[in-house]
Amino acid sequence: MNERLVIRGGRPLRGSVRASGSKNAALYALAAALLTADPVTLHNVPRIADIAEMAEILRALGATVAIDGAEARIQARELTATSAPVDLVAALRASFLTMGPLLGRLGEASCPPPGGDVIGVRPLDVHLAGFRALGAEVKREGPSWVARAKRLRGARLFLDYPSVLGTVNLLLAAALADGATTIVNAAAEPEVEMAGHMLNAMGARVRGHGGHTIVVEGVPKLHGVDFTVIPDRIEAGTFLLAGAATRGDVTVEGAVAEHLDGLVAKLREAGAEVELREGALRVCAEQPLSAVQVQAVPYPGYATDLQAPMAAMLTQATGVSIIHERVFENRLLYVGELRAMGGRLTTGGQSVLIEGPTPLVGTQVRALDVRAGAAVVIAGLAASGETQIRDVIHIDRGYANLVERLRALGADVERR
Ligand code: EPU
Repeated sequence: MNERLVIRGGRPLRGSVRASGSKNAALYALAAALLTADPVTLHNVPRIADIAEMAEILRALGATVAIDGAEARIQARELTATSAPVDLVAALRASFLTMGPLLGRLGEASCPPPGGDVIGVRPLDVHLAGFRALGAEVKREGPSWVARAKRLRGARLFLDYPSVLGTVNLLLAAALADGATTIVNAAAEPEVEMAGHMLNAMGARVRGHGGHTIVVEGVPKLHGVDFTVIPDRIEAGTFLLAGAATRGDVTVEGAVAEHLDGLVAKLREAGAEVELREGALRVCAEQPLSAVQVQAVPYPGYATDLQAPMAAMLTQATGVSIIHERVFENRLLYVGELRAMGGRLTTGGQSVLIEGPTPLVGTQVRALDVRAGAAVVIAGLAASGETQIRDVIHIDRGYANLVERLRALGADVERR
């Protein structure tokens, strides 16, 4: 709990690292496994705290879950509970994804409003309105949201916002509904697309996933599957930004270039060289970087999860950069930590102005959430002296074996 990351920065990162399986996509895959009584085997599952917690939640619902390295074997032969345990839900936003499958399969589901990163209000209206439109009765009972429906009926759903978890929850619910569901203004993130692929591999009839209109023709039953989780574009992007911020040369093996168009464009605009290889991405930033403007928006726009890491890199770019965070209303808290290290950042509303280049200096900072944590790691790698990062637990939620992998790239970093 009290562990720290200690980074002695100022060394360019060089070498290659392999992308892990996607944190968020693996969470959706675990939730999808609840839709069938058959065994589900997942490959390329990242070894991170969020996955362990989701596995605990599935177990509490009656599923068996065995995780061995990057493989997870799940079987929800019989579900014995309709509600995820409160203490587990408090830590993990994706726990709310148990609602869709339980409602679809058992006709009843309940879950308290989930916790997760403190990055904004994070409402649930998209999920709840969707369940209602599919014919469920949804109400608050004590601390929990409860949804009940003898049988869900397909419907045309319009999402007020292309919520990622909202889209996945409704996709999971609609898979076993009677008739066809059309999700309009769906999230198009690659992890949502992958959820659609996985469902189809389980016998579902989903089309349009990866776009903003998804059509799901309900089927009575889904079967087991052996499925490989896509690479983590956010983790890959974090390593690339660390490479650029330290003026290094980093290759991320296994990264999918088409999932990172926004980042690649901004790295190139800032003056870094980016090479797209078959199954790999390489950044080389030996020349000085220059300031850019970035807007974090839903996919395929620049990813909000790479907004804080980008800010850390831009402290090293010449000129005035501006970042607009348009997805979450409170995702600029990392600015205080970067300022403590000497960064010249000013916030106004949901925007941050970054003057660079600034020589960052190591000090004690906190990982306020998983991506704010990534930002201070990048800043620490670029800084002179020693950076001590507290609350490493947040970083562990999203980045597997970070210390070992950064060391392999030449960083001087340890866990203390
Ligand atoms: N929103 C609504 N109504 C809803 C749900 C969301 O208005 O019912 C709004 C939110 O207030 C927010 C925006 O929609 O302004 C985006 O939220 P979204 O629901 O899309 O985010 P999420 O599904 O809760 C997932 C990822 C996040 C990632 C976002 C955006 C998981 C477990 N989480 O969250 O990942 O930032 O999509 O891409 O998949 C992370 O990995 O660090 C992380 C926070």
